[in-house]
Amino acid sequence: RRVAVLAGGDSDEAEISRVSGKAVAEALRKAGFEVGEFEADRSLAKTLTDFSPDVAFLATHGGGGENGTLQGFLETMKIPYTGSGVLASAIGMSKMRSRALFRERGLAVPLTYAHRTEESFNPGYISFDPPYMVKPEAAGSSIGVKRVLRREDLADAVSEAGRYSHWVLVEQLIPGREIQSAILSGRYLGAIEIIPDKAEPFYTYASKYVPGGSRHISPAPLTPDESSELSRITIEACRVLDVRGACRLDTILNDEGVFVILEINTLPGLTPTSLLPEIASHEGLSFTDLIIELIATASL
Ligand code: DAL
Ligand code: MG
Repeated sequence: RRVAVLAGGDSDEAEISRVSGKAVAEALRKAGFEVGEFEADRSLAKTLTDFSPDVAFLATHGGGGENGTLQGFLETMKIPYTGSGVLASAIGMSKMRSRALFRERGLAVPLTYAHRTEESFNPGYISFDPPYMVKPEAAGSSIGVKRVLRREDLADAVSEAGRYSHWVLVEQLIPGREIQSAILSGRYLGAIEIIPDKAEPFYTYASKYVPGGSRHISPAPLTPDESSELSRITIEACRVLDVRGACRLDTILNDEGVFVILEINTLPGLTPTSLLPEIASHEGLSFTDLIIELIATASL
């Protein structure tokens, strides 16, 4: 079968996406697929018409490659693609909207103040105390994210995060353990615990992508009760969004033993330091097995 691997584009995560794309293309070639690697930019309509793939494999992260824009384009082109559909992608990319749905299902999310960038920011509107995490509402890979310890430092962090997204979230920092879980084709794969490098204030871009930038405890050391609770939450979060293919849920297991959902990733990273492939390996799935299963679940 002929597969178009799409990566890059103009998102802030384009560089990471190209690393995912390379890894995917290499695995598919070794498995005997006919593979074309393409940049997800405005040349795509022509490229895809010429290449005429059976499936598009989305290795895109962030922006239009993950927020439903590219998915809608492929729907129009009638090319089956991997991962979630238009609506799940759009909601999943928006932390604010996906959390509203999670909350409605009784799932825990952080206490958050949402600021719209064209309005003026007043720290006095925030009713909860520091420390805070300030982040772009719709971005990934920790780009634009800052930990803020004092209320008077909020304005700078909010303005920095506003470079990446139309809305900015000021969240109450949740002390606890960083646990990420994953789903593939509706089945729970397991979880991993992240311990960022001590030199980094949290799980930053550098701790995500510099080898050795964070320690992964895989599988995450959870009690049987915690594991079954996380599996329930992960399945429910993916169900409410109608996620397809694979997805990764980022949570904090707080000091009261509650998994608080930070966000859902509908096109999780597939780089050598990314977590979905590592979680999939718990289930005996190699990187190639994971990629082939994603292709098998591609649809319109
Ligand atoms: N946004 C990055 C690629 C991830 O979630 O893995
Ligand atoms: Mg993310």
